[in-house]
Parts: sequence; structure tokens; C-alpha cells
Amino acid sequence: MSSQALPLATPAGLTAPGERKEFIAREIKRLKKEKNALILAHLYERIEVQDIADYHGDSLGLSQLAKDTDADIIIFCGVHFMAETAKLLNPNKTVYLGNPNAGCPMADMITREDLIAFKAEYPGVPVVAYVNTSAEVKAESDYCCTSANAVEVVEFAAKESGSNRFLFVPDKHLGGYVQSKLPHIELICWEGFCPTHMRMNPEDVVALKKANPQAEILAHPECDTPIKNMADFIGSTTAIVKRAKESNARTFIICTEDGVSQRLSQDCPEKTFHTPTRASAVCPNMKLTRVENIYKSLLGQYPEILISEDIAEPARRCIDSMMRMPGSSGGPVMTGKA
Ligand code: 13P
Ligand code: SF4
Repeated sequence: MSSQALPLATPAGLTAPGERKEFIAREIKRLKKEKNALILAHLYERIEVQDIADYHGDSLGLSQLAKDTDADIIIFCGVHFMAETAKLLNPNKTVYLGNPNAGCPMADMITREDLIAFKAEYPGVPVVAYVNTSAEVKAESDYCCTSANAVEVVEFAAKESGSNRFLFVPDKHLGGYVQSKLPHIELICWEGFCPTHMRMNPEDVVALKKANPQAEILAHPECDTPIKNMADFIGSTTAIVKRAKESNARTFIICTEDGVSQRLSQDCPEKTFHTPTRASAVCPNMKLTRVENIYKSLLGQYPEILISEDIAEPARRCIDSMMRMPGSSGGPVMTGKA
């Protein structure tokens, strides 16, 4: 279904963009209360979407929030696998993806059939799936991780399963990072990658560092190895935000999607944030959601996220492996503006 399929229910008199914007913001606030809805936004979302959400954060922090919420409706402003994860954790709640067309090209790089064939090549080797996978792929996997806890999850999986060999899907760059931290464990990685993080060029990072020698380089583990090798800090999106806020440095080179630099520029106006890209580091799918889409979700104009129980039950078991692991890090940041 196209996200633009239904017209917005705004009063006919509201023609000025400012008036319309204010009306939609007011309606979102009213409907959210009336329907007991929770709005979650990933840090790669447009800044105005992050600001109208109840919480913004990384995929782990938002999953944890989704698990603990008393809300009846969850509107997940992010990409499809994130809303699916929220639904898996809350089977009895109504879950909408902020824009039903927002997918993740990396998650689409492995299908259930691909994984079944991969497993057949390595019989008995357990599978760790990055949360950036479909529910069908999770249903075929043993453990689940996010970028915030991948190293801890693999360590935990090795202890729990007794195996020192794992298949890791789909991101070869996150897998490579985990492998570098856990040399005693063998990870056999799928050849997936994030097209947005791959647009970041190591030469641009070198040039920025040359121009700003005091700058700290903060990188997401989905970046290519040469960028991670230059980084002062590697972490999930929330971990990058936290580090930049807590650091004494004044200048940062932020090697992840543009939304993080925008968030930081807004939250820390006294600091300077550079993003290393010749092409822009924008995830087009994350930017599909606009404030109007949240309003449409609250009006029930979009299809709910639904997962058949034969897939949901094993996929939930995979996600639970991460939730039951002690001491997983990451976490949301409350906006308090909605
Ligand atoms: P986080 O795990 O940092 O939320 O990142 C998710 C993602 O899609 C990165 O591209
Ligand atoms: Fe997927 Fe990359 Fe976009 Fe994250 S930034 S949602 S991994 S395409």
C-alpha cells in the first residue's frame, strides 16, 4: 500500500503550511492520548519525526521499550524489521510502521531460503542474526543481536551453546567487527552490507581528520574496516550520541547515518559535527517517514504489522535470546516533546 494513498484529514480552511503543521501536531497529541499509543523513532529518522516521538534511540533501546510498554498501539518510525520486532515482542498490541514502504536493503540481502541453504553448508553450526533481518530469517536463527550488543551476544551464545563457531547474518561488517573482538570464536559471515554506511569513504575521514586534528572519530560498526580502524570509538547510534555528549572533545567526525549528526547538532550546539561523505550518508528508507505519516497511522489508515504464528513463535525465541542475556547495553533518549 502506498503511504500517500489516502488524503490527510485536515480541515479545508488550513491552507498555510504552518497552520497545517500545527493542526497535525495537535491531532497527533490528542489521538495518541485517546488511543493510548506510543510513538518510537530511530535516530536515523527525520529530526521533526524524532522530536514528535515519545522516544528516540537505537534499535536495541527501542526494542526494550516496545517490550515493556503498556500502550495499546505502537507506531514505530523506522524500517520494517524494527516494527516487526516490536510486534514479535508485543503480539497482542497493534503495531504500525510509520511509513509502510520503509524497508531495509541490508535486511533484504538474505531470505529465509538463503539462510536454510547457508545452514545446510555448515550443519549444526548455530546462527546469530543481526536484528536487521526479517521475521522469517529470525525464525531460522538461534540468537539475535543489535549493533549495541553484538559482541556480548556472540560471547553469550558461545557459553550457552558450547559452540565456538557461528554463522553470522547478514552484515559482514558488523560480523567482522565482532570477529576482531573475539578471535577465539569463528564467525562465518554472510556477504551483506548497509549501502548507506558503504557510501562513507575512508579518504574523506582522513581528510576531515587532517583538517580537524583534535576531532574524535565515532563510527557505527556497519562501516567498512578502514573507517573502523581509524575510529576512537565504535558503537550503536545511541552509544555514539552518548559518547559525543559526554566527551570533552569539541569536534567530532560522525561515521554513521546523517540523522545522528543532526540530532547531535541540535542537542549540543556548542560542539561541531562533521559527516564524511562525498555522496550523502542518508538512509532513504529512514527518511520516508514524515510527521503526516504518524498522523495517518494514528487514524488507522495503514495496514497493521501482522506475523503468522508459525513464523512468530521461532522468531520470538530468537529475539528472546538477546533479551534474556544479562547486562545488554544501549538505550533510548526521551524527547518529552510529544
Ligand atoms: P542501531 O543498532 O545503532 O540502531 O542501527 C540500526 C541500523 O539500521 C544501522 O544502520
Ligand atoms: Fe538498513 Fe542501512 Fe538503512 Fe540501517 S542505514 S536501515 S542498515 S539500509
